[in-house]
Amino acid sequence: MVLLSKINEDAIVENLKKRYMDDYIFSYIGSVLISVNPFKQMPYFTDREIELYQGAAQYENPPHIYALTDNMYRNMMIDAENQCVIISGESGAGKTVAAKYIMSYISKVSGGGAKVQHVKDIILQSNPLLEAFGNAKTVRNNNSSRFGKYFEIQFSRGGEPDGGKISNFLLEKSRVVSQNENERNFHIFYQLIEGAPVQQKEILGIMTPEYYSYLNQSGTYKVDGTNDSKDFQETMEAMEVIGIPGEIQAQVLQIIGGILHLGNISFIEAGNYGQVESTDLLAFPAYLLGIDPSRLQEKLTSRQMDSKWGGKSESINVTLNQEQATYTRDALAKALYTRLFDYLVEAVNKAIRKPTEEYSTGVLDIYGFEIFQRNGFEQFCINFVNEKLQQIFIELTLKAEQEEYVQEGIKWSPIQYFNNKVVCDLIENKLSPPGIMSVLDDVCATMHAKGEGADETLLQKLHGTVGTHEHFNSWNSGFVIHHYAGKVSYDINGFCERNRDVLFPDLIELMQSGEHHFIRSLFPENLNTDKKGRPTTASSKIKKQANDLVNTLMKCTPHYIRCIKPNETKRPRDWEESRVKHQVEYLGLRENIRVRRAGFAYRRVFNKFLQRYAILTTETWPCWRGTEQQGVLHLLKSVNMDKDQYQMGHTKVFVKNPESLFLLEEMRERKFDTFARTIQKAWRKYIARRKYEKMREEASDILYQSKERRKNSINRNFVGDYLGLEQKPELRQFLAKRERVDFADSVNKFDRRFKSIKRDLILTPKGIYLIGREKVKKGPEKGQIKEVLKRKLEFGNIISVSLSTRQDDFFVLHEAQYDSVLESNFKTEFLSLLCKRYEEVTKRKLTLSFNDRLEFKVKKEGWGGGGSRFLVFQRGQGDLAQVKPGGKTLNITVGDGLPKTSKPTRKSAPYSHGTRTNPPNSRGHPHGATQFSRGGAPSAQHDFTNTAPQRHGRPPSAALPKLGTQRSQRAPAQHKQGNMDFLNVPEQGMSGMQRKKSIGQRPPPAPKPSSRPQGPRCRALYQYIGQDEDEISFNVNDVFDLIRQDTSGWWTGRIRGREGLFPGNYVEKV
Ligand SMILES: Nc1ncnc2c1ncn2[C@@H]1O[C@H](COP(=O)(O)OP(=O)(O)OP(=O)(O)O)[C@@H](O)[C@H]1O
Ligand SMILES: [Mg+2]
Repeated sequence: MVLLSKINEDAIVENLKKRYMDDYIFSYIGSVLISVNPFKQMPYFTDREIELYQGAAQYENPPHIYALTDNMYRNMMIDAENQCVIISGESGAGKTVAAKYIMSYISKVSGGGAKVQHVKDIILQSNPLLEAFGNAKTVRNNNSSRFGKYFEIQFSRGGEPDGGKISNFLLEKSRVVSQNENERNFHIFYQLIEGAPVQQKEILGIMTPEYYSYLNQSGTYKVDGTNDSKDFQETMEAMEVIGIPGEIQAQVLQIIGGILHLGNISFIEAGNYGQVESTDLLAFPAYLLGIDPSRLQEKLTSRQMDSKWGGKSESINVTLNQEQATYTRDALAKALYTRLFDYLVEAVNKAIRKPTEEYSTGVLDIYGFEIFQRNGFEQFCINFVNEKLQQIFIELTLKAEQEEYVQEGIKWSPIQYFNNKVVCDLIENKLSPPGIMSVLDDVCATMHAKGEGADETLLQKLHGTVGTHEHFNSWNSGFVIHHYAGKVSYDINGFCERNRDVLFPDLIELMQSGEHHFIRSLFPENLNTDKKGRPTTASSKIKKQANDLVNTLMKCTPHYIRCIKPNETKRPRDWEESRVKHQVEYLGLRENIRVRRAGFAYRRVFNKFLQRYAILTTETWPCWRGTEQQGVLHLLKSVNMDKDQYQMGHTKVFVKNPESLFLLEEMRERKFDTFARTIQKAWRKYIARRKYEKMREEASDILYQSKERRKNSINRNFVGDYLGLEQKPELRQFLAKRERVDFADSVNKFDRRFKSIKRDLILTPKGIYLIGREKVKKGPEKGQIKEVLKRKLEFGNIISVSLSTRQDDFFVLHEAQYDSVLESNFKTEFLSLLCKRYEEVTKRKLTLSFNDRLEFKVKKEGWGGGGSRFLVFQRGQGDLAQVKPGGKTLNITVGDGLPKTSKPTRKSAPYSHGTRTNPPNSRGHPHGATQFSRGGAPSAQHDFTNTAPQRHGRPPSAALPKLGTQRSQRAPAQHKQGNMDFLNVPEQGMSGMQRKKSIGQRPPPAPKPSSRPQGPRCRALYQYIGQDEDEISFNVNDVFDLIRQDTSGWWTGRIRGREGLFPGNYVEKV
């Protein structure tokens, strides 16, 4: 998208839409990957793409998440630096799906033995497990992550994923006890109900979901496209793979069942006290959780309180009212669930923990920015984390990038953007003025047990402290924050309770008294010592986690995926323009492109750059003698990089376009490839020599006592491929992709009139190929000579091979339909390999017959053809066979060769790779065989100058297939009940206004002067391509009028009759 001719939001949206409607969901802005949720399975996530993107440069293939992942993986290995990928976007934009593609790509391209495979299995299986317990259907997303996850995949030095670590963030636990309309509880509840075997259901007392009050409030039980029963099996399998023991698995489900039953305990008001409405309902949850039912009853309806009286502290039992009792029940359910969730995360961690960390790649997939009908404390936290992530993105891509240019003394003109730090501060500031979280904590610290009225106090205090903040407003039920992604109204109700997040010691004690060890282990608190100090609140916890996360991410080389959600209908091909535009705006894509275009795609500190590209020149390899800066310049010169493509900073080199960087990368790859090939070749040569010595002996055995041998062939080294097929795609095209070549050589083939013609003979484990050349008769390639597969012989159809007893090179391949008469210098080598392959495939020995009168069947063609011909061999003169056709017989004469009992004498002949011991065409063909140039075998020199092997050719244009462009109908309104206005594109509020303001901060162009001014002129130091209509473009060395210099850095000039803005530091005054 950096190449768009106009950069404004509309152009970006238009471009994204065009691509989306053509089924291209990915685009790049520099190295940032934009991914638009297709809401349907795209066909380009197969093994083919995995292969295509492996080791390929970014520009070689269409944008893809595999390209980003591959780049990340390679960077980690080459630069020995930890990487991370930050996946952001609103709820339902496709973050979790993207994270899974990343993990599966890494798992597929990395090697490793059984142990590594086990780690990979756990990494992949952790997804269904944590999704079952941590994801739920919301109105925004049917599989919405209700927790944040940072998954570090750890690698060995060899790049094998051999460990990992998950950090999880704030699970939305309120969902366990209540859900909004059209939403569900966590998937696991429904999975258990739908998928558990009957017997297990009986043990757990599982009924229909409508029976449970923790499930029936929202009236939603099923999710489109989700099979809870099947998912249950997957969840159980995942627990198995992760190594959770069977009895614990059973208890995990017991807790889930226990929570459901716990929710059905209701209370009535008796006097001022809460009483269990139906004590019968206590037994089952108590049984499942392994606790005493009367104790459960007691702890749900009363609480021990410490009270200080006249300097003495004593414990008194306080009876709870109905509301408090309900609250206590829910607190227990939520605590059980979150602790269980943490246990599962820890179980995954335990299974893949590694004692020492080498390299790692982190994948951040959190809950996306969300706005619901009612937004509570959880949404506040979720949106805060998203705000922090936007901050990192800004810090690293917009702010830091621009600051770096200034620091390094790079010529640069600033680009404005909306910095959401102001919103982060509003939420998390400690002091001056204290942010919302600080005020919240203060109120919580002073509130009483249930804290009636605390929320109102909070609201009042917020008015006092942040009431005048630009990004803060109040409304009748709470407050509004102008987030980077839109205004959200938060309902103050429950903020204090949820923030305080303390589990009453009574409940901990209750659970510790249980009979199941596993459930007890979820409540490890020591009640006697853990009481002291101000308890950590939920907001301080999430604040700390978010800031720790930022620190962790800052230590890695970051990569970004910006997910865009094109609609709220969850339907494919449904494009809501305003929704996308809103996201493009708040994600800052426009600023991103501008920084990218005017800036530098790549920067590296000198020594790292030198290290990475040292291999390119002999002066820099193995080490450069000189300053690092000179070394870098030397390298840039060695690849002839244009001067306007890079700038040298104080400590770093900056490269402007990715293409220029790719040039360097490609050269580097090529070098490595050449060296690797040299090493490979030397090794292969060594192995081959040993192998061929053995083969030579075996080959001799097949002719032993049957055929005379040539003097110079008996000790000849075997080469196998005399055609150099590796570099002959025109020949390889007839073979399968990885088909191995045993033997390849150019041979003479004799027809029924004994005319000889050249054929390329190839032997592979799949059969024998005879390839000829023909002139193309029709079409655009008319007149060109093209390779044609003339014959393919399957081993199963070969009957036998016959040869003379003399030293000639003829042999006849006998086949069911007709025979092939061939002449090859290397017949012994060919035959011995053929015998081997033949036996492997057919499990029979190939019949070889030796006779000086050979009969062969000719091909039936029309009326002619068919019948037999003969080869008659006689004693003649010299080592070269002379041929003389006469009627149906070809007479062949040749002098005596070495005796039939000859054996190789030398252990190893001097190796002359690929050169013939006999000149191939020394003997004239009497009938004028068609000649075509023969490909020499690969010579060492040849290899060196050849380009890197085309491991991944350019993708055919069908790499991302286009589907029909018909638009589907918009879905009918999905939710009938309730006010669904909150699903509309959110209002942008102050953040949106500031964004607009900050973008338009350049000075207006000066009014047009009436005549050509005789004022100052300037000369362009760098090329600049205008990025907006009010800007001008110029090339390096263009001289033009300088009309106005502005302190903002945006100057006004006139070139080729056009007046407009340009960055002042791109020119020098003349
Ligand atoms: N690349 C994709 N191909 C096909 N479908 C997709 C793709 N990405 C997302 N989807 C669809 O969109 C749904 C929502 O995606 P996902 O769960 O990844 O969103 P999310 O960004 O993680 O949202 P949340 O913040 O709520 O967790 C998926 O369940 C799937 O149906
Ligand atoms: Mg998600």
